[in-house]
Amino acid sequence: MTTTTSPPWDPRQNVSMRIVHSPENPPSKGIYALLTASIAPRPIAWISSLSADGTPNLAPYSFFTIACTDPAILSITSVGHKDTLSNVEATGEFVVNIGTESLMEVMNATSAPFEPEVDEFAKVGLTAAPSDVVSAPRVAEAPIAFECVRHDVIDLGTSAMMLGRVVSVSVEDEVLAEDGLPDFGSLLPPSRLGRHEWGYAPRTRELPRPLK
Ligand SMILES: Cc1cc2nc3c(=O)[nH]c(=O)nc-3n(C[C@H](O)[C@H](O)[C@H](O)COP(=O)(O)O)c2cc1C
Repeated sequence: MTTTTSPPWDPRQNVSMRIVHSPENPPSKGIYALLTASIAPRPIAWISSLSADGTPNLAPYSFFTIACTDPAILSITSVGHKDTLSNVEATGEFVVNIGTESLMEVMNATSAPFEPEVDEFAKVGLTAAPSDVVSAPRVAEAPIAFECVRHDVIDLGTSAMMLGRVVSVSVEDEVLAEDGLPDFGSLLPPSRLGRHEWGYAPRTRELPRPLK
């Protein structure tokens, strides 16, 4: 670990110091802890999938974002080789469900390290509803479901990035605003922060992008 002082244009100069890390000087709690506490809040993909023998699987993943909009592709990273990754490799399908604040605890319950033969829907008392296009079920209690087919799985060494092309989206009408898009205040999606923290939906404000 090394320290530097603030640059001259920083109004906090002489007040704050920066702690500098590098791969050779990682933070004491590890780079995973620093990354996840810094890059927060992260949205949560609550991923349902089916194993090769048809066992339903469900788990939350916060290394999650939009990778592309045309075509619509979602990106989720599996840290290590987990059941979801095995299922995506075996079946080429999965569903990204978006949960609400009231589902936070049951979402967390599905993150337990269950054996592959355990059906998390049954284990935590959720309803597996048939999806519209893919064989993997969606979570009936979750207001939005993105049905995906495997676009690619990128090997990152210790992790793997799963890219899913969206083939169908279903949204509960109760969370839609008049413009036909999900209303953040109705959706209230929980998020993942660092440590063991979860976030409630944050405050919002309108701020259009400048033209130039
Ligand atoms: C809110 C939350 C977000 C998580 N995000 C990730 C993630 O992005 N990648 C990952 O590999 N594990 C993540 N986990 C841990 C997995 O949910 C956990 O390892 C789970 O058992 C994996 O289930 P599976 O083996 O059925 O896929 C997260 C856990 C929680 C509670």
